[in-house]
Amino acid sequence: MLSITGVLLRHRLLHFNHPTRFFSAASPHSSHLPLNHPTYMVWSANTSLGKTLVSTGIAASFLLQPPSSSTAISRKLLYLKPIQTGFPSDSDSHFVFSKLDSLSLRHRIPLSISNSVLRSSLSAAESMRYNAEFNENGICNLNFLEEKIVTGAPELLCKTLYAWEAAISPHLAAEKENALVEDCVVLRLLENCLKEEMNGGGKREKTNLLCLVETAGGVASPGPSGTLQCDLFRPFRLPGILVGDGRLGGISGTIAAYESLRNRGYDIVAVVFEDHGLVNEVPLTRYLRNKVPVLVLPPIPKDPADDLSEWFDESQVVFNDLKETMVSAYLERIERLNVMGKQAGEIFWWPFTQHSLVPEETVTVIDSRCGEHFSIYKASDNNSITQQFDGCASWWTQGPDPTFQAELAREMGYTAARFGHVMFPENVYEPALKCAELLLDGVGKGWASRVYFSDNGSTAIEISLKMAFRKFCVDHATLLDICEATEERKHIEVKVLALRGSYHGDTLGAMEAQAPSPYTGFLQQPWYTGRGLFLDPPTVFLSNGAWNLSLPESFSKIAPEPEEYGTFTTRDEVFDKSRDTSILATIYSAFVSEQLQEYSGITQSAHVGALIIEPVIHGAGGMHMVDPLFQRVLVNECRNRKIPVIFDEVFTGFWRLGVETTAELLGCKPDIACFAKLMTGGMIPLAVTLATDAVFDSFSGDSKLKALLHGHSYSAHAMGCATAAKAIEWFKNPETNHNITSQGGTLTLRELWDEELVQRISNHSAVERVVALGTLFALELKADGSNSGYASLYAKSLLKMLREDGIFMRPLGNVIYLMCGPCTSPEICRPLLTKLYKRLGEFNNRA
Ligand SMILES: *[C@@H]1O[C@H](CO)[C@@H](O)[C@H](O)[C@H]1NC(C)=O
Ligand SMILES: *[C@@H]1O[C@H](CO)[C@@H](O)[C@H](O)[C@H]1NC(C)=O
Ligand SMILES: *[C@@H]1O[C@H](CO)[C@@H](O)[C@H](O)[C@H]1NC(C)=O
Ligand SMILES: *[C@@H]1O[C@H](CO)[C@@H](O)[C@H](O)[C@H]1NC(C)=O
Ligand SMILES: *[C@@H]1O[C@H](CO)[C@@H](O)[C@H](O)[C@H]1NC(C)=O
Repeated sequence: MLSITGVLLRHRLLHFNHPTRFFSAASPHSSHLPLNHPTYMVWSANTSLGKTLVSTGIAASFLLQPPSSSTAISRKLLYLKPIQTGFPSDSDSHFVFSKLDSLSLRHRIPLSISNSVLRSSLSAAESMRYNAEFNENGICNLNFLEEKIVTGAPELLCKTLYAWEAAISPHLAAEKENALVEDCVVLRLLENCLKEEMNGGGKREKTNLLCLVETAGGVASPGPSGTLQCDLFRPFRLPGILVGDGRLGGISGTIAAYESLRNRGYDIVAVVFEDHGLVNEVPLTRYLRNKVPVLVLPPIPKDPADDLSEWFDESQVVFNDLKETMVSAYLERIERLNVMGKQAGEIFWWPFTQHSLVPEETVTVIDSRCGEHFSIYKASDNNSITQQFDGCASWWTQGPDPTFQAELAREMGYTAARFGHVMFPENVYEPALKCAELLLDGVGKGWASRVYFSDNGSTAIEISLKMAFRKFCVDHATLLDICEATEERKHIEVKVLALRGSYHGDTLGAMEAQAPSPYTGFLQQPWYTGRGLFLDPPTVFLSNGAWNLSLPESFSKIAPEPEEYGTFTTRDEVFDKSRDTSILATIYSAFVSEQLQEYSGITQSAHVGALIIEPVIHGAGGMHMVDPLFQRVLVNECRNRKIPVIFDEVFTGFWRLGVETTAELLGCKPDIACFAKLMTGGMIPLAVTLATDAVFDSFSGDSKLKALLHGHSYSAHAMGCATAAKAIEWFKNPETNHNITSQGGTLTLRELWDEELVQRISNHSAVERVVALGTLFALELKADGSNSGYASLYAKSLLKMLREDGIFMRPLGNVIYLMCGPCTSPEICRPLLTKLYKRLGEFNNRA
């Protein structure tokens, strides 16, 4: 038996050496949470359903066990109440503290217990008559502590993180008491409290720890900033238990709360509620398909004089059950997380991956995503879940911040429920129609009048090629006539005009439209012939603080001296339309004409039937910025020859480069354009090919054989269309996207990358060139020989260091890049560049 060596109940005011710093709203919360002990959120379908009784019951079940022989492992329960209103008369942490005190006496099992309150509003502090340290935000560091220490006994640690006096919703109390707390501040304190205990509280011996975080009110009750608590706590995505409602009407409330949590990506391991004799557990269990246990507590005595001791005794079986469920769900989760990396390496075939170069321990285990961040599980790091900035925007698709992610998830859920998937040809349904209208009024405005839906970028490109070639043939009718009359089709070859370094997808047809590259070699694609006239493009880049133009070899004979076109002081100069009258424009134009010469005239066997370009940035080709003047000249030259123009905006479209469509940056319009990726915010695959009336008309006739005979099982997928419609509207509305600004009638994104830092990086001796535009920041590392090019592993050590800094990046050879979303705050982008800059220095010293 343990001996009670010294029982003392005392209140004291602690003095912290380091006053807590408060962070501004914009300061992003990038958490690192060890998972080496089970931690649960306690949610509730409504207020007053007995959340705190449930927390208390779990604590009692966990702590008040008769001492076993294995006393070497001490037991500890951490109870956290992040948000408390009605304080001090209401204090859930005090309730748990005092109840466990009396239960411990009743059962003669000694406990070490403490309860502290860390921060409160000024008025709550005053009503406690506490001499607290004040903070300018109206929040005091309260540091109230009551405790009863029994050496060697199991421990209960209760903490209230933030308290307000008024017994109303936290957002109202915070406003009334002039004591606001930002979401990220609440999260940071919560994280620190959890971490402190998880990492052993400074002690070495093994502890059997269980953590409970009890929310305030119902699942969707607002927190102090007004953010719903189910959203506020989402970055940690802690598993939860739901205290349901056993009363009349409680089934609906319980299911609604459960679904609100599931729709936000939470896992709920059990539902528990008070028995009101209505057998609510039967329909709830059926609804949950027996997957989630539903536990029923005996009726709670309503007499305020009842100290509930008997009720707790009576309920002990249920709480034991609940606790077992929580512990075993935790163990299952960790076990699964621990083997996922290995399993993946054994059964997946990853794209663009040489499996022999991926050791098991380097596989990234993604537990979830929250806005721009992955939540990554690391077994080697105290089984922690760490947030890492998704620097590749998951293959350039991602746009949402946490708020918008939740919004899109709801939209998708609704659409799936309403439509599932329905077939498209000759049909119409609201999401598809709405999406098409928005596209034509947005990225297609002023030129497109038809929307063709497909499922991804590569297929959108194939469709665009089919469209362009038909249009070309119709416009060059004599050519078509010759083909049809003489059946000489096989002697007429239709090519595309494309730029070296551009990439239009991995399907066999789309690959024909790219110049030879590491993706097209015989080993990769023996069918490849490269059906194009491929030109080397002039590129622009930032180096040593200036925008430089680099002309390819092919211009060497006709190019002016570099001084005549050389550098630009600002990026805007590069896009300036006045360059159209420059000598360079004339040279470009002459060059393109000369190249097209041998393909014109009907006697030629090869014809250029389409121009296809990735406007402004060549993505997969190494994040090269093509001189926009050159692309504009290309478009004009092709237009003059009735060669249809295709813009591949799969990567560049929808704000990736700071504008909704890069046609705005180039200052010219296509006949056909392809969009995907960010179009749905990156939530679900969907692609479109937009076309002009003239292109559409080239398919009309009275025979089905003249129609565009092409389609996809999931054409105009309702969920994709609904998501796209939502994303298109959200990104360009200044009310939902604060980064949008209107300049002379056109909407653009504000600069997201700190200009001074971008300059500084471009001056770095390890850096060859930089491109910063819209949501993209890219740099090429100085490298030579085998260190450069797509197969290079040169950037590996740099990226490894950056992962330690919480940034997830993948290289394109010796080119590395960061991509944020259209709504990402510059406050998130700045620290990324700072970390990158710092690591470049270390990389340089090592290399
Ligand atoms: C992991 O836990 C140990 C003690 O258990 C602690 O010292 C260390 O800081 C923890 N690491 C992280 C990254 O939290
Ligand atoms: C589109 O899908 C094809 C195969 O269905 C795939 O090869 C290609 O990479 C995808 N394109 C994009 C841009 O994801
Ligand atoms: C940039 O252009 C200037 C002037 O044309 C030239 O002297 C300099 O070498 C160029 N810098 C790079 C990195 O190409
Ligand atoms: C961009 O949007 C975020 C919120 O989404 C906001 O915090 C930030 O201030 C905006 N940036 C600018 C430059 O206004
Ligand atoms: C970058 O280098 C240029 C030229 O050497 C210099 O003018 C500029 O001040 C530097 N910028 C920064 C931010 O260091």
